[in-house]
Amino acid sequence: MDKIGIRFPEDFLWGVSTSSYQIEGAWNEDGKGESIWDRFCHTPGNIKTGDSGDVACDHYHRYKEDVELMKELGIQAYFFSISWPRVIPKGEGKVNKAGLDFYRHLVDELSEAGIKPCIFLYHWELPQALHEKGGWTNPNIVRAFADYAKLMASELGDKVKLWAVINEPQVVAHAGYLTGEFAPGIRDFESFLKASHHLQLAQGEAIRTMRDTEPNLKIGTTLNLYPCYPLEDTKEDREAAARIDEFMNRWYLDPLLKGEYPPLAKEMGLRPDPGDMEITHQPIDFLGVNYYTRCIVKYDPRKPMGARIVQKNSPVTEMGWEIYPEGMYDLLMRLKRDYDPVIYITENGGAFDDKVSKNGTIQDDDRIRFLRDHLVAAYRALKEGVKLKGYFVWSIMDNFEWTDGYSKRFGLVYIDYRTLERIPKKSAYWYRETIKNNGFSLV
Ligand code: FCB
Repeated sequence: MDKIGIRFPEDFLWGVSTSSYQIEGAWNEDGKGESIWDRFCHTPGNIKTGDSGDVACDHYHRYKEDVELMKELGIQAYFFSISWPRVIPKGEGKVNKAGLDFYRHLVDELSEAGIKPCIFLYHWELPQALHEKGGWTNPNIVRAFADYAKLMASELGDKVKLWAVINEPQVVAHAGYLTGEFAPGIRDFESFLKASHHLQLAQGEAIRTMRDTEPNLKIGTTLNLYPCYPLEDTKEDREAAARIDEFMNRWYLDPLLKGEYPPLAKEMGLRPDPGDMEITHQPIDFLGVNYYTRCIVKYDPRKPMGARIVQKNSPVTEMGWEIYPEGMYDLLMRLKRDYDPVIYITENGGAFDDKVSKNGTIQDDDRIRFLRDHLVAAYRALKEGVKLKGYFVWSIMDNFEWTDGYSKRFGLVYIDYRTLERIPKKSAYWYRETIKNNGFSLV
């Protein structure tokens, strides 16, 4: 960092990310199977706004326009996810050629536009048919997922080089099987334990199988991570913060990067079978990091882990998530200290109350400030030796924000949900300049 500004390394990769359910729509077209999110959203009461991803941004039909827009904005790379039931309707067995064609066309379109296609294999769209066999609680899912990963690697591995196997296993296990807030809506501790373990076995098997199929791929996975801080600098609060860190972060970091669970997982009853930890502990080419906010933790003996997450009176986004750019720096430095992987920030961004002004523009200065401050923090970590190779904004466009439906906007591009018109916000133009200059001025 110097007086005039910050400049990232020449080969730094600037991108945007999305996920299939949140943007594609076409939920039952061209042979796609039902996913747990289709079922969950179609069940009244699950989504606060009553919305679903049935149409979403209609990206399935408008992907050419969306790629064109990304090109105009100078985007270098695009992380999108594959809807598993679009390509394998029942999750195993028969393949849906039309579904594969959609992704092949998207990849071709991106490649022609000079945008590097990058894939998340699993961003939460479990085929409903597999859920009915137990979903992530059934050990057989490990094989089904590895077969699906192999199929995708052999179908698209010629043009797609960067692959993240699972997006946020913590959210899948926690929100899907423990709190029931997300699909499939299960609230059961034993199911959570099984799901969190099978997700990591499936991830390991998928990485192994993909490497055997296509040795030239760069394969990693994406974790949502929250730096945890004690509310007060007391022994109790420090220990409480360490437990939440084990629960939210190390539960997924350690099996992958060290081949073991943190002590808390064992205390809570997770008992891997012999050989399991060799499967979870696969060499990866990069770790995808999704950073949105931090956790502040207070000791509370009445809580199951003796710890409670508290909120400070700090600025928050529309999600109610504290805006804490310093957490990006702390998190990256911690990852270097404890694991030292190559890192891509695969998601970072904020929901703000965007309004279209009379002249048709969206002046989202709050989002620009958010992205800028997080990039400054990431840059500091990079300068201090973190192997940070790229940064992806969540998201290129407003989309279906899970249980919040369409009420929360994260996009660089505004979506008018009545007409599905795409309108780049001020932040989109700011990002274009940032990419062009490989950084920005600080004055
Ligand atoms: C992440 C999810 C992504 C999006 C953002 C806001 O946890 O991966 O789909 O909802 O949060």
